Amino acid sequence: MATSEAPEAVAAVDFLKVTEQAALASARWLGRGDNHAADQAAVDAMRQSFGELPITGTVVIGEGQKDEAPELYVGEVLGAGGMECEIAVDPLEGTSLVARGDSGALAICAVGRPGGVMPAPDIYMQKLCVGPTARGRVDIDAPIADTLDVVARCYGRRVRDLTVIVLDRPRHAELIEQIRAADARISLIPDGDITASMSAAVRGTGDHLYVGIGGSTEGVITAAVMECLGGEIQAKMWPRTEEERELMVEFGMDDPDTVLTTKDLAPAPLYVIATGVTDGNLLKGVRYFADGARTHSIVMDLVTNTVRFIDTVHLFSRTIIREIRL
Ligand code: FBP
Repeated sequence: MATSEAPEAVAAVDFLKVTEQAALASARWLGRGDNHAADQAAVDAMRQSFGELPITGTVVIGEGQKDEAPELYVGEVLGAGGMECEIAVDPLEGTSLVARGDSGALAICAVGRPGGVMPAPDIYMQKLCVGPTARGRVDIDAPIADTLDVVARCYGRRVRDLTVIVLDRPRHAELIEQIRAADARISLIPDGDITASMSAAVRGTGDHLYVGIGGSTEGVITAAVMECLGGEIQAKMWPRTEEERELMVEFGMDDPDTVLTTKDLAPAPLYVIATGVTDGNLLKGVRYFADGARTHSIVMDLVTNTVRFIDTVHLFSRTIIREIRL
C-alpha cells in the first residue's frame, strides 16, 4: 500500500489518463459555441479517471469552493485510496478557445506532496513568467522595458527579437503600449495563460516571456509547471474589490504587494501532466478518426527528472482495429 512516505508510488504517467480523458471528452465540443458543455465534459471525465487511481488526493485548486462546484471542488478527496497527494486541476484551460474552435486549449493537472500546492482565492493575479534562460534575473516590480532588456540579454539578442505573450484584455492596454514602445514583438492571445507560460519556458517555441493579469488558480498550476521546466513565475494577487481583499485575507494573504515566488505557489510539486485539446505551440489537439482518437501530452516529472512528450492512439473498439499510423 502506498503511503505519504512513498509519494512516488504512483508514477507521473499513471496520471496521464486523467488529462487524456478530459481532453478526449472536451474536444468533442470544438467550435460548438458551448463553453459550459465543453468544460463539463472535461470535468466529468477527469473526475472519473481520478477515481480509478490508487491515490488519496485532495483537491487544492479546482473548479471552485464546495458551495460553488459539485465536482472537483476545493477539499474534495479523489481516488480509490492510496498515495496521499494534493491536486491542482484545470480540466479545460481555455474553455472559450474550444467553444470557438481556436488553438491553445489543454487539460492539465498538477500533483504535489501534502502541502505541495498553495491554496489560492479565485481572483486575478499579476504574473511574470520566464524560462530557465532568464530565471532569477527578472523582477515583477521593475518597469517592463527593463525586464525586456534583461531577458534580451539573457537570450543574447535584441529586445526587438523577443516575443512577449499577453492576454488580449482592455486591462492590458497600457502594458501593451509599453511593450510596443520598447520594440518587442507581442503575441496577443485570446485565452489560456498556463499554455502561454509553458510556451515561454520551452526553448524553440519562439516565445520568451508571459506577462499580465490572469486567474490566480491558473497561476498556482503555472508555478508547478515552471518548477518542472526550470522556469520561474513571479506573481502578485490583484484584488479588484473590498470583497476580494477580504477573500485574500481569508487565505492568509493580507498585502497585494507581496511578491509570490514559484516556491510560494508550488512548494513541493511532483508531477504536472497536460494534454492538448486544440492545437498549440507545444501540444497537438485531439484528432479523432473512425473508432479511435489520438492525443498529445506532456508529462513533467520531478521525481524521475524527466519531461516526456507522449503521443497516444486510443482505440475505442477491440473489434475494429484499424492500422496505427505514424
Ligand atoms: P478558462 O479556461 O477557465 O475560461 O480560463 C481561461 C483564461 O484565459 C485563463 O488562462 C486566464 O488566467 C483567465 O482566463 C483570464 O481571465 P479573464 O478571461 O477574466 O481575463
